[in-house]
This record gives sequence, structure tokens and C-alpha cells, in this order.
Amino acid sequence: MQIKLTGRRALVIGGGTYGEGNGIGRAISCSFAACGAHVIVADRNSDAADATVALIVAQGGTAEALVLDVTNFAEAFAASSELTASGPIDILHYNVGIGFAADTSSLDPEQFTAVLDANVVGMHNIIRAVLPEMRQQRRGTILATSSAWAHRHLGYNHSFYAASKAGMEHFIRLVAQENASYGIRANSIAPGFIDTPRVRHTLARSYGDNSFDEALARRAAQVPLGRLGQPEDVAHMAAFLASDLASYITGGHFLVDGGLTGASIAG
Ligand code: NAI
Repeated sequence: MQIKLTGRRALVIGGGTYGEGNGIGRAISCSFAACGAHVIVADRNSDAADATVALIVAQGGTAEALVLDVTNFAEAFAASSELTASGPIDILHYNVGIGFAADTSSLDPEQFTAVLDANVVGMHNIIRAVLPEMRQQRRGTILATSSAWAHRHLGYNHSFYAASKAGMEHFIRLVAQENASYGIRANSIAPGFIDTPRVRHTLARSYGDNSFDEALARRAAQVPLGRLGQPEDVAHMAAFLASDLASYITGGHFLVDGGLTGASIAG
């Protein structure tokens, strides 16, 4: 049994990666392409989108880059609508996510608005652009990258991000209900601690060079499976959910966290 996305057109929003290397959006884009989809890699960072496209092409797939900032709602809506007008989007994966890790008392409401705009409102805006065509086609798959933070506290304070991801998941659950009769499925994926350039950059900023490796090891030790996740771990779930193998799955949220969310706490 193989995951096949041949002939499908996939739009990955946030399909680049911070810095060098492999982030979750890049891994998802590559796995969609490896399964046969043509991938539109959308990101506000054009270099990051181009790098994902180059990787896909080097691996024998087909892709194109689209530069958009999801927080510029009018522009992002226009770009996504234009894209659907040039051919239906079969798979939409919303992967953008930002956050400010700090105690709630030291964060201000404007930061909360920024997080909600990027993680939830931007997602709604893109979904609203692709839905009419998907409904007309009577098929389509919508996916979003949530987080294990939507389900529990993970050891440091991250309330705005967690609230936005919980909102994202419930929104997707309701999108699934609203669109099931059109043959459109919607699901979210909640990764745990994934080893990405973004995470490494954030840890390096917080811990400095000396305790960086220690911080990574501490995180890995918290995971019941004993390691950090790789972007591909998330990408494999995305490819499966996007495919017809998952044709009876909608309105779900799927943890890809090595057991982190269900882990016992010290007794
Ligand atoms: P990343 O920062 O490398 O990837 C996010 C991409 O989205 C970047 O290429 C960035 O340029 C793009 N982006 C950000 N704001 C944008 C905007 N306004 N408009 C268009 N594009 C924008 O991060 P990473 O670590 O690969 O995470 C990807 C997703 O996975 C995020 O949603 C994150 O919240 C989620 N996640 C990550 C986990 C991890 O441990 N790395 C764990 C759980 C969830």
C-alpha cells in the first residue's frame, strides 16, 4: 500500500523554513511532492519558498513558489483566490505558526493579536479563498499544523501560542463538519517537540552556546519515545491525511509527539 497524491495540486502555506535546513513546512511540501502532487510553496520569505521548490525539483518533483504574508489579509486572500481560479486546489495545508514564549503577565495584548492573526485569522482567510472551488469540485483536503501545546502545558510558559493552536484545532473541526457534505475533509496535526532550525534558533537564544545541547537533550528526555521528532515524522502524517487512504477521516486532530502529550508527570 502506497500513499499516492498523483495529479493533485497542493498549497502549503508556510512551506519555507526559518534559516537553513528542514522545517515542518518544507518537509510537508517535499513529502506531498514525493507522493506525486504538484506543490505550491507559499511563504512570506521568498528565499525560503524558493529553497523548498529547489529541493522538490532536485528530488524529481514539481513545485512553484508563491510569496504571501498571511497577516496581510487582503493580499493573501487575493493571491489564494487567483490560484484557485487557475485550477482547483486539492490539498491545502496551513503550516504558519508564530508565538512568544513568556509568562502571560509580561506579554501585551498586541502580541496576542499578532499570534491570533498569523495562526488563526490568516488560516480562516486562506480557507475562505479556496473553499468555493473545493465545494464546486466536491472534493478537497484541508490540513493545519497545530501543536501539542493545544492539549497541555509543556514545561515553559506559552499561553498565547497554546490558545491560538487550540482555537485552530477547533476551527478545523468545525470546518470539517460544515464541509463534509461537499466531500471536503479537514484535520489538524499536533506535533510535539520537533527538531527544526526555528526551534534550535529559539533555544540558542534562550540558553546560549554553553547549555544549548543540554537544553535539546532535556527536551528529548521528556519524550516517552526518547527523542525529538523530525520534520518528516509530521510530514508522513500530513501525506497520509491528504491522501485517499484517509478518505474516512475528518474533523480529527492527530498527535505526532512521541507520547509527550500523554506522558505521566513525576509522582
Ligand atoms: P518555521 O518558522 O521554520 O516555519 C514556519 C514558516 O512559516 C516559515 O518559513 C515562515 O517564513 C513562514 N511564515 C511565518 N509567518 C508567516 C506569514 N505571516 N505569512 C507567510 N508565511 C509565514 O517553523 P517550524 O518549527 O518548522 O514550525 C512550523 C509549524 O509547526 C508552525 O505552525 C509551528 O507552530 C508548528 N509546530 C512546531 C513545533 C516544533 O517543535 N518545531 C511543534 C509544534 C508545532
